[in-house]
Amino acid sequence: MEANIELKKTLARLIPEWNKDLRAFVKENGSVKADEVSIDQIMGGMRSIKALPCDTSYLDAMEGIRFRGFTIPEVREKLPKPAPDAVPSPLALWHLLLTGEMPSAAAAQELEEEIRRRSEVPAYVMDAMRALPKDMHPMTQLSIGVLAMQKDSVFAKKYSEGMKKDEHWDAMLEDSLTLVARLPVIAAFIYRRTYKDGTVIPADPKLDWAANMAHMMGVDNKDYQNLCRLYLLLHSDHESGNVSAHTGLLVGSALSDIYYSVSAALNGLAGPLHGLATQECLNWILGLMKAYGGRTPTKEEVEKYAWETLNAGHVIPGFGHAVLRNTDPRYVAQSDFGAKYLPEDPIYKTVTTMLEVIPPVLRQLGKVKNPWPNVDAMTGCLQQHYGITETDFYTVIFGVSRALGITAQAVWARGIHFPLERPKSVTTRMLKDIAAKSKAGAAA
Ligand SMILES: CC(C)(COP(=O)(O)OP(=O)(O)OC[C@H]1O[C@@H](n2cnc3c(N)ncnc32)[C@H](O)[C@@H]1OP(=O)(O)O)[C@@H](O)C(=O)NCCC(=O)NCCS
Repeated sequence: MEANIELKKTLARLIPEWNKDLRAFVKENGSVKADEVSIDQIMGGMRSIKALPCDTSYLDAMEGIRFRGFTIPEVREKLPKPAPDAVPSPLALWHLLLTGEMPSAAAAQELEEEIRRRSEVPAYVMDAMRALPKDMHPMTQLSIGVLAMQKDSVFAKKYSEGMKKDEHWDAMLEDSLTLVARLPVIAAFIYRRTYKDGTVIPADPKLDWAANMAHMMGVDNKDYQNLCRLYLLLHSDHESGNVSAHTGLLVGSALSDIYYSVSAALNGLAGPLHGLATQECLNWILGLMKAYGGRTPTKEEVEKYAWETLNAGHVIPGFGHAVLRNTDPRYVAQSDFGAKYLPEDPIYKTVTTMLEVIPPVLRQLGKVKNPWPNVDAMTGCLQQHYGITETDFYTVIFGVSRALGITAQAVWARGIHFPLERPKSVTTRMLKDIAAKSKAGAAA
């Protein structure tokens, strides 16, 4: 049954306005240059080239992420909450990402109910997942689970029946609602099957989307439910140029449906330089503590261990960022959570010592553009405290969260008829010719 909720009505009102506005804007300004591209950027992973539109969030190098213009403290204050002392539900943030408008408490509640209604995962998807080896990486299992659901894509079906272009966003939203509803069920299934006895814990209809993920994983702790809300909110969106979001957008630009897009995006998220960094960071902290008999190391000991890592040719995980040039506000939000709920936890204390010691060490290297902690420095420590010790699983939780941003961007892209992506390649010979001509021009 199709959704008949405030979220959809809001999008139905806004999308024609966005379309009209953008069409007129591009018609009038299409030839204005937004950026120039250097050889450094082409050979450096297209770093910082202004070439992708994204309205769901914006990453400022100093200030960090803003979701639809709102900072992390602002969304935490303004979004409706499942209980007065709770962190807002990530689904309320999803409403904001999708529409640009803060949902009312009633609209947020209605969305929770719509999601609950769609959360049953088809038996053939569960069967496909049960057929996988238990020691397959949880991210591979997640990606396969998402892809298996493609069979029932509303977008794919309606497209094959000749759906009109203006209806594309609606079908994309329908699929996104279903996908988001089922992701925590699949993630919890992977967790229970890979690390526990495999029994499936049914959802609790009284709990919101994020808290239910904690419950289905088998962690019935109110503080961990709040952590789940916080984590799933903080990791949801980070512009459209990061590997997972960009993969989702790129695959979607071929009019592939949301299951194809998100499954591909998850494969990118699984990489060590992206989502896997959380797991690597916690392993680094645990290695550091192990080197000192499992206790919280002193500042001098952290410094010594950091230099050993660097001298062995490795990076210090949890520090540095491709875009940010300051402490990640997502780190700050999680660190505040730690200070409130687990100030005496030895791992938490180790991370706070790292915050003092690592930035000056990285500065001494002279090449690190951002010596400050990123979100991954704190994430694993909090999960570990609540008994989620299986570091391989952390990227799965990240994936559930990132799906919110990717689906919001996908619906937006369909709404504005974002075209097929097709940048132009050049050979290195051509780049050398361009450089030679530029030098000759400068000399003349
Ligand atoms: C995130 C990251 C990949 C960004 O890379 P980047 O954009 O190339 O960062 P920079 O421009 O600052 O890198 C310049 C140099 O400093 C090094 N550097 C950056 N962060 C570093 C860190 N945490 N430890 C050691 N060296 C680091 C880079 O490896 C690079 O060295 P090179 O020139 O010898 O290749 C990088 O900071 C890193 O590897 N961090 C650790 C892993 C991590 O936390 N990832 C999660 C990010 S959210």
